[in-house]
Amino acid sequence: MSEPLLTVKDLVVEFRTELGAVRALDEVSFDVPRDCITAVVGESGSGKTVTGNSIMRLLPESAQSSGEIVLRPGDEEPISISSLTERDPRLLDLRGGLVSMVFQEPMTALSPVHRIGDQVAEAVLCHRRVSRETAWDEAAAMLEQVGLTDVERRMRMYPFEFSGGMRQRVIIAMALICHPQLLICDEPTTALDVTIQAEILVLIRSLQRKLRNSVLFITHDLGVVAQIADRVVVMHDGKVVESGSVRQVLKSPRHPYSIHLLASMPGARTREFSQ
Ligand SMILES: Nc1ncnc2c1ncn2[C@@H]1O[C@H](COP(=O)(O)OP(=O)(O)O)[C@@H](O)[C@H]1O
Ligand SMILES: [Mg+2]
Repeated sequence: MSEPLLTVKDLVVEFRTELGAVRALDEVSFDVPRDCITAVVGESGSGKTVTGNSIMRLLPESAQSSGEIVLRPGDEEPISISSLTERDPRLLDLRGGLVSMVFQEPMTALSPVHRIGDQVAEAVLCHRRVSRETAWDEAAAMLEQVGLTDVERRMRMYPFEFSGGMRQRVIIAMALICHPQLLICDEPTTALDVTIQAEILVLIRSLQRKLRNSVLFITHDLGVVAQIADRVVVMHDGKVVESGSVRQVLKSPRHPYSIHLLASMPGARTREFSQ
Protein backbone atom coordinates (compact mmCIF):
# COMPACT_ATOMS: atom_id res chain seq x y z
CA MET A 1 0.00 0.00 0.00
CA SER A 2 1.45 3.32 -0.98
CA GLU A 3 -0.51 5.58 1.35
CA PRO A 4 1.50 6.38 4.47
CA LEU A 5 0.37 4.82 7.74
CA LEU A 6 0.42 8.18 9.46
CA THR A 7 0.24 11.74 8.23
CA VAL A 8 0.96 14.75 10.41
CA LYS A 9 -0.09 17.98 8.76
CA ASP A 10 0.45 21.56 9.91
CA LEU A 11 0.62 20.55 13.55
CA VAL A 12 0.91 23.53 15.87
CA VAL A 13 1.20 23.02 19.63
CA GLU A 14 1.34 25.85 22.14
CA PHE A 15 1.65 25.63 25.90
CA ARG A 16 0.11 28.22 28.17
CA THR A 17 2.68 29.20 30.75
CA GLU A 18 3.06 31.96 33.32
CA LEU A 19 5.31 33.75 30.87
CA GLY A 20 2.78 33.52 28.06
CA ALA A 21 2.29 31.08 25.24
CA VAL A 22 5.22 28.87 24.25
CA ARG A 23 5.04 27.55 20.73
CA ALA A 24 6.54 24.05 20.81
CA LEU A 25 5.53 22.95 17.32
CA ASP A 26 5.20 25.27 14.37
CA GLU A 27 3.32 23.77 11.41
CA VAL A 28 4.98 20.40 11.61
CA SER A 29 4.19 18.13 8.65
CA PHE A 30 5.59 14.70 7.80
CA ASP A 31 4.53 11.19 6.83
CA VAL A 32 5.31 7.87 8.43
CA PRO A 33 5.32 5.27 5.64
CA ARG A 34 4.40 1.64 6.24
CA ASP A 35 6.86 -1.10 7.02
CA CYS A 36 9.92 0.96 7.81
CA ILE A 37 11.66 2.99 10.49
CA THR A 38 11.28 6.76 10.37
CA ALA A 39 13.55 8.74 12.67
CA VAL A 40 12.78 12.15 14.10
CA VAL A 41 16.07 13.83 14.93
CA GLY A 42 16.86 17.19 16.47
CA GLU A 43 18.56 18.72 19.46
CA SER A 44 16.99 18.91 22.89
CA GLY A 45 13.94 21.18 22.93
CA SER A 46 13.30 20.94 19.20
CA GLY A 47 9.84 19.42 19.70
CA LYS A 48 10.42 15.68 19.24
CA THR A 49 8.66 14.50 22.40
CA VAL A 50 5.75 16.89 21.90
CA THR A 51 5.36 15.42 18.40
CA GLY A 52 5.32 11.83 19.70
CA ASN A 53 2.99 12.69 22.55
CA SER A 54 0.62 14.48 20.16
CA ILE A 55 0.28 11.29 18.12
CA MET A 56 -0.54 9.39 21.34
CA ARG A 57 -2.80 12.25 22.47
CA LEU A 58 -0.79 12.60 25.66
CA LEU A 59 -0.44 16.38 25.84
CA PRO A 60 -1.20 18.11 29.15
CA GLU A 61 -4.21 20.38 29.57
CA SER A 62 -2.06 23.45 29.20
CA ALA A 63 -1.48 22.55 25.56
CA GLN A 64 -3.51 23.86 22.66
CA SER A 65 -3.09 22.35 19.26
CA SER A 66 -4.26 22.64 15.71
CA GLY A 67 -3.52 20.73 12.55
CA GLU A 68 -4.24 17.18 11.60
CA ILE A 69 -2.94 13.75 12.53
CA VAL A 70 -4.41 10.88 10.51
CA LEU A 71 -3.71 7.18 10.99
CA ARG A 72 -4.61 4.77 8.20
CA PRO A 73 -4.68 1.30 9.71
CA GLY A 74 -4.42 -1.58 7.21
CA ASP A 75 -7.96 -2.53 6.41
CA GLU A 76 -9.91 -0.08 8.56
CA GLU A 77 -11.21 3.42 8.02
CA PRO A 78 -8.67 6.21 8.53
CA ILE A 79 -8.75 7.68 12.05
CA SER A 80 -8.36 11.40 12.53
CA ILE A 81 -6.41 11.22 15.79
CA SER A 82 -6.37 14.98 16.19
CA SER A 83 -10.16 15.26 16.21
CA LEU A 84 -11.05 12.38 18.56
CA THR A 85 -12.67 13.58 21.76
CA GLU A 86 -11.22 12.46 25.09
CA ARG A 87 -14.19 10.13 25.59
CA ASP A 88 -14.11 8.53 22.17
CA PRO A 89 -13.66 4.74 22.61
CA ARG A 90 -11.36 4.75 19.59
CA LEU A 91 -8.84 6.64 21.70
CA LEU A 92 -8.49 3.57 23.92
CA ASP A 93 -8.05 1.31 20.90
CA LEU A 94 -5.42 3.69 19.70
CA ARG A 95 -3.26 4.00 22.81
CA GLY A 96 -1.43 0.77 23.37
CA GLY A 97 -3.49 -0.88 20.62
CA LEU A 98 -2.91 0.52 17.15
CA VAL A 99 -0.16 2.83 18.37
CA SER A 100 2.13 2.27 21.32
CA MET A 101 5.08 4.02 22.79
CA VAL A 102 8.41 3.21 24.44
CA PHE A 103 9.71 6.02 26.62
CA GLN A 104 13.23 7.00 27.49
CA GLU A 105 13.36 5.92 31.11
CA PRO A 106 12.72 2.18 31.51
CA MET A 107 11.98 2.39 35.23
CA THR A 108 9.06 4.79 34.98
CA ALA A 109 7.12 2.58 32.57
CA LEU A 110 7.18 -0.42 34.90
CA SER A 111 5.46 -0.79 38.23
CA PRO A 112 8.01 -1.70 40.90
CA VAL A 113 5.51 -3.80 42.87
CA HIS A 114 4.23 -6.17 40.20
CA ARG A 115 5.91 -9.17 38.67
CA ILE A 116 7.25 -8.74 35.13
CA GLY A 117 4.99 -11.48 33.75
CA ASP A 118 1.84 -9.95 35.24
CA GLN A 119 2.69 -6.53 33.83
CA VAL A 120 3.18 -7.80 30.30
CA ALA A 121 0.08 -10.03 30.56
CA GLU A 122 -1.92 -7.04 31.84
CA ALA A 123 -1.08 -5.19 28.63
CA VAL A 124 -2.81 -8.00 26.72
CA LEU A 125 -5.84 -7.97 29.04
CA CYS A 126 -6.29 -4.20 28.60
CA HIS A 127 -7.11 -4.62 24.96
CA ARG A 128 -8.40 -8.12 24.39
CA ARG A 129 -10.84 -10.45 26.05
CA VAL A 130 -8.69 -13.47 26.66
CA SER A 131 -8.14 -15.59 29.76
CA ARG A 132 -5.37 -14.69 32.18
CA GLU A 133 -3.66 -17.91 31.22
CA THR A 134 -3.67 -17.06 27.51
CA ALA A 135 -2.41 -13.55 28.31
CA TRP A 136 0.44 -15.04 30.36
CA ASP A 137 1.38 -17.43 27.53
CA GLU A 138 1.35 -14.59 25.00
CA ALA A 139 3.49 -12.53 27.34
CA ALA A 140 5.99 -15.40 27.58
CA ALA A 141 6.15 -15.73 23.80
CA MET A 142 6.70 -11.99 23.33
CA LEU A 143 9.37 -11.83 26.03
CA GLU A 144 11.19 -14.61 24.22
CA GLN A 145 10.96 -12.61 20.98
CA VAL A 146 12.66 -9.63 22.60
CA GLY A 147 15.52 -11.86 23.67
CA LEU A 148 14.78 -12.81 27.26
CA THR A 149 16.03 -16.25 28.24
CA ASP A 150 14.75 -18.46 31.02
CA VAL A 151 11.46 -16.67 30.49
CA GLU A 152 9.11 -18.51 32.87
CA ARG A 153 11.42 -17.90 35.82
CA ARG A 154 12.12 -14.28 34.87
CA MET A 155 8.41 -13.54 34.52
CA ARG A 156 8.06 -14.22 38.22
CA MET A 157 10.69 -11.61 39.07
CA TYR A 158 10.30 -7.88 39.80
CA PRO A 159 11.73 -4.96 37.78
CA PHE A 160 14.44 -4.18 40.37
CA GLU A 161 15.90 -7.64 39.73
CA PHE A 162 16.46 -6.73 36.06
CA SER A 163 19.26 -4.71 34.47
CA GLY A 164 18.40 -1.50 32.60
CA GLY A 165 18.78 -3.23 29.25
CA MET A 166 16.54 -6.12 30.28
CA ARG A 167 13.91 -3.71 31.56
CA GLN A 168 13.93 -1.90 28.24
CA ARG A 169 13.43 -5.28 26.50
CA VAL A 170 10.41 -5.90 28.74
CA ILE A 171 8.97 -2.49 27.87
CA ILE A 172 9.44 -3.18 24.18
CA ALA A 173 7.59 -6.48 24.67
CA MET A 174 4.76 -4.65 26.45
CA ALA A 175 4.57 -2.10 23.65
CA LEU A 176 4.45 -4.78 20.96
CA ILE A 177 2.16 -7.29 22.60
CA CYS A 178 -1.04 -5.92 21.06
CA HIS A 179 0.59 -5.82 17.62
CA PRO A 180 0.54 -2.04 17.13
CA GLN A 181 0.79 -0.81 13.56
CA LEU A 182 2.87 2.11 14.78
CA LEU A 183 5.50 1.89 17.51
CA ILE A 184 6.83 5.22 18.76
CA CYS A 185 10.19 5.02 20.53
CA ASP A 186 11.17 8.23 22.32
CA GLU A 187 14.93 8.10 22.94
CA PRO A 188 14.61 4.49 24.11
CA THR A 189 18.34 3.96 24.53
CA THR A 190 19.53 7.32 25.85
CA ALA A 191 19.55 6.11 29.47
CA LEU A 192 21.52 2.95 28.66
CA ASP A 193 25.23 2.09 28.40
CA VAL A 194 26.67 2.27 24.91
CA THR A 195 26.96 -1.50 24.41
CA ILE A 196 23.44 -2.16 25.68
CA GLN A 197 22.22 0.72 23.54
CA ALA A 198 23.62 -1.01 20.45
CA GLU A 199 21.89 -4.27 21.39
CA ILE A 200 18.51 -2.57 21.81
CA LEU A 201 18.88 -0.81 18.45
CA VAL A 202 19.60 -4.13 16.76
CA LEU A 203 16.56 -5.59 18.52
CA ILE A 204 14.22 -2.80 17.40
CA ARG A 205 15.50 -3.08 13.85
CA SER A 206 15.12 -6.87 13.69
CA LEU A 207 11.66 -6.83 15.27
CA GLN A 208 10.52 -4.23 12.75
CA ARG A 209 11.73 -6.41 9.89
CA LYS A 210 9.96 -9.42 11.36
CA LEU A 211 6.68 -7.76 12.33
CA ARG A 212 6.55 -5.42 9.32
CA ASN A 213 5.09 -2.58 11.39
CA SER A 214 6.11 1.08 11.27
CA VAL A 215 8.42 2.61 13.84
CA LEU A 216 8.78 6.29 14.63
CA PHE A 217 12.15 6.53 16.32
CA ILE A 218 12.86 9.76 18.20
CA THR A 219 16.50 10.58 18.92
CA HIS A 220 18.93 13.49 19.26
CA ASP A 221 21.71 11.31 17.84
CA LEU A 222 22.35 11.31 14.11
CA GLY A 223 24.64 8.30 14.53
CA VAL A 224 21.65 6.32 15.78
CA VAL A 225 19.61 7.53 12.80
CA ALA A 226 22.26 6.20 10.42
CA GLN A 227 22.25 2.87 12.23
CA ILE A 228 18.56 2.21 12.49
CA ALA A 229 16.36 4.33 10.23
CA ASP A 230 15.17 4.20 6.63
CA ARG A 231 13.74 7.69 6.62
CA VAL A 232 14.48 10.79 8.66
CA VAL A 233 12.64 13.94 9.68
CA VAL A 234 15.01 16.67 10.91
CA MET A 235 13.51 19.06 13.47
CA HIS A 236 14.83 22.38 14.63
CA ASP A 237 13.15 24.85 16.91
CA GLY A 238 9.68 23.30 16.57
CA LYS A 239 9.83 23.02 12.80
CA VAL A 240 10.59 20.27 10.33
CA VAL A 241 13.54 21.59 8.37
CA GLU A 242 14.19 18.59 6.16
CA SER A 243 12.94 15.06 5.55
CA GLY A 244 13.70 12.23 3.19
CA SER A 245 15.52 8.91 3.00
CA VAL A 246 18.40 8.55 5.47
CA ARG A 247 20.82 7.91 2.64
CA GLN A 248 19.80 11.06 0.82
CA VAL A 249 19.74 13.35 3.86
CA LEU A 250 23.05 12.11 5.26
CA LYS A 251 24.76 12.17 1.89
CA SER A 252 23.55 15.54 0.72
CA PRO A 253 21.77 17.48 3.44
CA ARG A 254 20.05 20.54 2.06
CA HIS A 255 19.04 22.60 5.03
CA PRO A 256 21.77 24.57 6.87
CA TYR A 257 20.70 23.02 10.17
CA SER A 258 21.03 19.46 8.81
CA ILE A 259 24.47 20.35 7.45
CA HIS A 260 25.43 21.73 10.84
CA LEU A 261 24.04 18.66 12.63
CA LEU A 262 25.96 16.34 10.35
CA ALA A 263 29.17 18.32 10.64
CA SER A 264 28.99 18.05 14.43
CA MET A 265 28.74 14.24 14.25
CA PRO A 266 31.48 12.99 11.94
CA GLY A 267 30.69 9.33 12.76
CA ALA A 268 27.23 9.44 11.25
CA ARG A 269 28.20 9.27 7.59
CA THR A 270 30.81 6.56 8.03
CA ARG A 271 28.32 4.36 9.84
CA GLU A 272 25.77 4.86 7.12
CA PHE A 273 28.11 3.71 4.39
CA SER A 274 29.30 0.71 6.36
CA GLN A 275 25.73 -0.61 6.68
N1 LIG B 1 4.33 20.92 29.44
C1 LIG B 1 5.02 21.91 28.85
N2 LIG B 1 4.83 23.22 29.18
C2 LIG B 1 5.52 24.20 28.57
N3 LIG B 1 6.42 24.00 27.62
C3 LIG B 1 6.66 22.74 27.24
C4 LIG B 1 5.99 21.62 27.82
N4 LIG B 1 6.43 20.47 27.23
C5 LIG B 1 7.34 20.86 26.32
N5 LIG B 1 7.49 22.21 26.32
C6 LIG B 1 8.39 22.99 25.45
O1 LIG B 1 8.22 22.56 24.11
C7 LIG B 1 9.46 22.55 23.42
C8 LIG B 1 9.70 21.19 22.83
O2 LIG B 1 9.89 20.24 23.87
P1 LIG B 1 10.16 18.69 23.60
O3 LIG B 1 9.22 18.19 22.58
O4 LIG B 1 10.12 18.03 24.93
O5 LIG B 1 11.65 18.69 23.02
P2 LIG B 1 12.59 17.46 22.69
O6 LIG B 1 11.85 16.20 22.95
O7 LIG B 1 12.95 17.64 21.23
O8 LIG B 1 13.80 17.63 23.55
C9 LIG B 1 10.51 22.98 24.44
O9 LIG B 1 10.76 24.33 24.26
C10 LIG B 1 9.85 22.70 25.76
O10 LIG B 1 10.33 23.56 26.73
MG1 LIG C 1 12.28 14.61 24.27
